[in-house]
Amino acid sequence: MSLSPRSGATAAALAAPLSRMDVEGFLADGFALKAQLAPFLQVDAAALEALLPQATDQLAALHPGAVQLAFDPADAGRFYEDTVGTAHLIELAAWHLGSADYIADTLRLQERFARGQVLDFGGGIGSHALAAAARPQVEQVWFVDLNPHNRAFVAARAEALGLAAKLRCFRDLDDPALPPQFDTIVCLDVLEHLPDPAAQLESFAGRLTGSGVALLNWYFFKGFRGEYPFHFDDEALVNRFFTTLQQRFLEVFHPYLITTRAYRLQAPT
Ligand SMILES: C[S@@+](CC[C@H](N)C(=O)[O-])C[C@H]1O[C@@H](n2cnc3c(N)ncnc32)[C@H](O)[C@@H]1O
Repeated sequence: MSLSPRSGATAAALAAPLSRMDVEGFLADGFALKAQLAPFLQVDAAALEALLPQATDQLAALHPGAVQLAFDPADAGRFYEDTVGTAHLIELAAWHLGSADYIADTLRLQERFARGQVLDFGGGIGSHALAAAARPQVEQVWFVDLNPHNRAFVAARAEALGLAAKLRCFRDLDDPALPPQFDTIVCLDVLEHLPDPAAQLESFAGRLTGSGVALLNWYFFKGFRGEYPFHFDDEALVNRFFTTLQQRFLEVFHPYLITTRAYRLQAPT
């Protein structure tokens, strides 16, 4: 199911209650998430409440893998760019609101490391990108996501929250407007959606500054009840991913008990 988002939604179109842009603000209301998502999708608050609990199953149902149809990995990009429509916005909203304590720890981790030029790759509904943009240590956030609805929603949220000057949205990393290198790379819950996550790590390694930090997690698993048919779990793909991770990055310890890890580049040997 894909709802019709407002075309060219602007700050004025979205409710913009003043939201604190720190972890406490996220825990309070997801940075005004429901208040912004309902008008963006042109539904009322009650209709949004009804959509949220079904969101994971609705997104899964869009994927050929959910009904055991062949899925060409080369089509993954088209799935996120075209097929999912607004379904991912609703699924991510349900997840960020329903697992707010977990997301809050990833925001605490981001607060610890984010500075300078920040890339949020596959940024979804923008919780991390918006929080980063509000940090004085961050000069600019570059939000990259294949899904045009996600980009439109996050751009409108940034405007409504007074952060538009520090957050710009792009489809992919090849856009020449992006800086060649980033001081911080955030890529959360994205790598398992990519047909070649090892190549994505190589791309990150090439664009991370020498002192930069990458915050990464992954979940190469289709779910205990098959609820994530779009996650890649092929053993050879996962082995290539971990080989590349260990060759190119060195983990930086952090104290949060979450799956997200912090990395610097390995020193050249
Ligand atoms: C599970 S969501 C994670 C969103 C966000 N990082 C979070 O933690 O909530 C995966 C996101 O990656 C995006 N995505 C998938 N493939 C992509 C690609 N090749 N390039 C950029 N974004 C991609 C999807 O559109 C989606 O927004």
